[in-house]
Amino acid sequence: MKQNIYDNELFFENYKALRENPVNYNELLEQPEIKRMLPDLEGKRVLDIGCGMGDLARYCAEQGALRVTAIDPSGNMLREAKNRNAHPAIEYVQTALEDAVFASGSYDVAVSSLVMHYVADYEAVIRSIHAALKEGAVLLFSTEHPIVTARKEGKKWITDTEGNWLHFAVDNYHEQDRRETKWYVDGVIYYHRSFAALCNGLIRNGFSLEEVIEPVPDGAAIAKLPRIEHELRRPSFLILEARKTARP
Ligand SMILES: C[S@@+](CC[C@H](N)C(=O)[O-])C[C@H]1O[C@@H](n2cnc3c(N)ncnc32)[C@H](O)[C@@H]1O
Repeated sequence: MKQNIYDNELFFENYKALRENPVNYNELLEQPEIKRMLPDLEGKRVLDIGCGMGDLARYCAEQGALRVTAIDPSGNMLREAKNRNAHPAIEYVQTALEDAVFASGSYDVAVSSLVMHYVADYEAVIRSIHAALKEGAVLLFSTEHPIVTARKEGKKWITDTEGNWLHFAVDNYHEQDRRETKWYVDGVIYYHRSFAALCNGLIRNGFSLEEVIEPVPDGAAIAKLPRIEHELRRPSFLILEARKTARP
């Protein structure tokens, strides 16, 4: 069952506040790598999956994309996207990835920032994206890192008696299934998949891997947000870039 947690008002207000402060993990760590890894977008047809408030969709349009189809199931997120990031090249569409119907072979680039961990059937959506892409097109997505999604219960950072972070706990790694957590509200659902499953889901379904990134903060990011230095101890994000090959 798909959850649309971004339409929970309490969750949404907190998430919006998090993203409105530019000193966050997305802006300092994940977005710079996604933008670096995007191919040349001039004249390209782009699919932005789980576009949220539309910042990346607008960035793609400003890079010269001919058309950006930006999909998201959340009415709250799309309302913000249309208010903040309207652009003649962008079409915002309210749908979950699993329910979207794409014309086959129609996009040059599919990009998705921090959405795949919300999808229950990863390989099914990879097949659907494959069908929507042109031959040789690029799929670039970030997701929560399997090291972070693995442990089912208990604190993830193990602390000493004074509360200092000693090390990060990885457990339940090969139990690849649904997880539930409290993030602003109880009952936020996401899915844990191993590093191998994420890569093989692409390879098995007609993509060749081009680049794999586990973002690390630079000195400027650490200066702005000192606790981001813990990313040097364990990564929060995984970014995969793959290309559609002939074999489906
Ligand atoms: C962490 S936010 C990221 C938003 C945006 N990509 C960004 O980086 O700013 C996750 C987004 O994924 C959307 N989402 C959740 N489940 C989805 C699904 N099954 N299909 C498409 N989008 C989904 C949410 O509504 C939310 O907007």
